[in-house]
Amino acid sequence: MGKVQIKEAKGKLGVLVVGIGGAVSSTFIAGTLLARKGAGVPIGSITQLATMRLGKREENRFPKIKDAVPLADMKDMVFGGWDLFEENLYEASAYAKVLDEKHLNNVKDELAAIKPMKAVFDQEFVKRLHGTWVKSAPTKWDLMEQVREDIRNFKKENGCDRLMMIWCGSTEVFTPLGDVHKTLAAFEKGMKENHPAIAPSNIYAYAALAENVGYINGAPNLTVDIPAMWEMADKHQVPIAGKDFKTGQTMLKTVLAPMIKTRMLGLEGWFSTNILGNRDGEVLDDPGSFKTKEESKLSVIDNILQPELYPELYKDYYHKVRINYYPPRGDNKEGWDNIDITGWMGYPMQLKVDFLCRDSILAAPLCLDLVLFMDLAHRAGMFGIQDWLSFYLKSPMHEPEKIAEHDLFIQYVKLKNTLRQMLGETTIDFID
Ligand SMILES: NC(=O)c1ccc[n+]([C@@H]2O[C@H](COP(=O)([O-])OP(=O)(O)OC[C@H]3O[C@@H](n4cnc5c(N)ncnc54)[C@H](O)[C@@H]3O)[C@@H](O)[C@H]2O)c1
Repeated sequence: MGKVQIKEAKGKLGVLVVGIGGAVSSTFIAGTLLARKGAGVPIGSITQLATMRLGKREENRFPKIKDAVPLADMKDMVFGGWDLFEENLYEASAYAKVLDEKHLNNVKDELAAIKPMKAVFDQEFVKRLHGTWVKSAPTKWDLMEQVREDIRNFKKENGCDRLMMIWCGSTEVFTPLGDVHKTLAAFEKGMKENHPAIAPSNIYAYAALAENVGYINGAPNLTVDIPAMWEMADKHQVPIAGKDFKTGQTMLKTVLAPMIKTRMLGLEGWFSTNILGNRDGEVLDDPGSFKTKEESKLSVIDNILQPELYPELYKDYYHKVRINYYPPRGDNKEGWDNIDITGWMGYPMQLKVDFLCRDSILAAPLCLDLVLFMDLAHRAGMFGIQDWLSFYLKSPMHEPEKIAEHDLFIQYVKLKNTLRQMLGETTIDFID
C-alpha cells in the first residue's frame, strides 16, 4: 500500500455502541465527554497521546499521531446505541460504579440525554441477563431491518456525516462456525428462516455493513469473523475489526511470552486466574459464555511460542485460564499469573504476576482508538478485515491464509507503519 487519498474528517462522527449501558461503553463515553471538555486526561489512548517517528532517526521528527494523521476530533463524536435496559447513560454509569460522582456530575446532562434504543436480544445467547428493553419481530431478517432503520434515524436526527458501530455488549455463548455462516447467501436465508445459529451480534453487524457503517467487535463472539461477513464487508467496501479487547491479563501475556521466547527460555506451564464482580463477570460465569472467552484467551501463547518449531522448549506446556465471578470487587479485576519457566540445562524458575487492574478503565481508551482508526480506514477506502488494529485485540481477525500476530510490540510497529504508509512516509524497520 502506498500513500492513500483520505477523505477529510468533516462533520459529525456518529458512534453507535451495542451494549451502550454497560460498564465499558459508559466509561468510554463519559471519559470521552470529560476529555473533550478538558476535565480529564484520556490516558491509555494512542490516538490522543502517542507520538510517531517519521523519517530517519537523525531527522528527529516525532509528531503526535493525531497531528500527523487526519483523525476525527473527539469534539465531533456523537453517541448512541442499544441496550437491554432502558436506563439513560447517567444512570447506567452510576450503576457500573467505574467513574466516581465527581466525574459523572461534570457531564451529567450530556450523559442523561443518551437513551438506549431497544435491543435485538435472544436469551439463548446470554443466559444470565433478562432484558426488558427488547425489539420483537417475526424473523431475524425483520429485526435486522429494524436496526437498519435505527441507524438511518440516528444519522438523520444527529446530522452525522458518517457512522461507526462498536460491540461492547455481553459475550455471547460459544457458537461454532456452521454452514449458515459460510456464505452471504446462506446467512441471508438463515436470517429469514430464523436459523438458531445466527446471534443478535450477527444481526447488528449485518445491519451496520448494509448501511455502509464499519463494525468493531470488542467481545470474543464470532460475529464478523465469519466468511459471510467478510463477503458482506467486501461487497459494501466497509472495514471490520475484532475480536475481544486486549486489556489486562492477555495484554501482559503478549508482552511476557515474547520475552520468554526471545531469550529461548522454556515453558512448562502457565496458570492464569481472575476474579471480577461486574456484570461481565456474571455473564462469564455461564459456561457457554466462558467458553467463548476461553477460546479467545488460550490461543495467544501457542501462536507466540510456536511449539511446533521449538519442541525442546514448548512441547506439552500446560495452559489454564480461569475467570471467577466475585461480586465484592466490582469492575476492579484481579488477575494472577503463575508461569513456570526453565533455563540453562532445564533448571526451573517461576514468574508471578498479580495485576490489580480496572477492567473498564483499561478498555475505554481502546474503544476510542478503535473507533477513530476505523473511521480513518473507512475514509481512506480501506475495507474488509483491518488486521493492522490487532494491537487492540485478543483474537485478532486476519485473512484466512495468514497467521495472526499476537506480540504487542510487533502489533504496535504494524499499526504505526500502516499509518506511515497511509501518509506516504517510509515505513520503519529500525535499520536507519
Ligand atoms: N473490560 C475489559 O477489559 C474487556 C476486555 C475484553 C472484552 N470485554 C468485553 O466487552 C464487553 C462489555 O464488557 P462490560 O464489562 O462493559 O460488560 P457489561 O455487562 O457491563 O455490559 C454489557 C452490556 O451489553 C448489554 N447487552 C447484552 N446483549 C446485548 C444485545 N444483544 N444488544 C444490546 N445490548 C446488549 C448488557 O445489557 C450490558 O449493558 C463484554 O463482552 C466483555 O467480555 C471487556
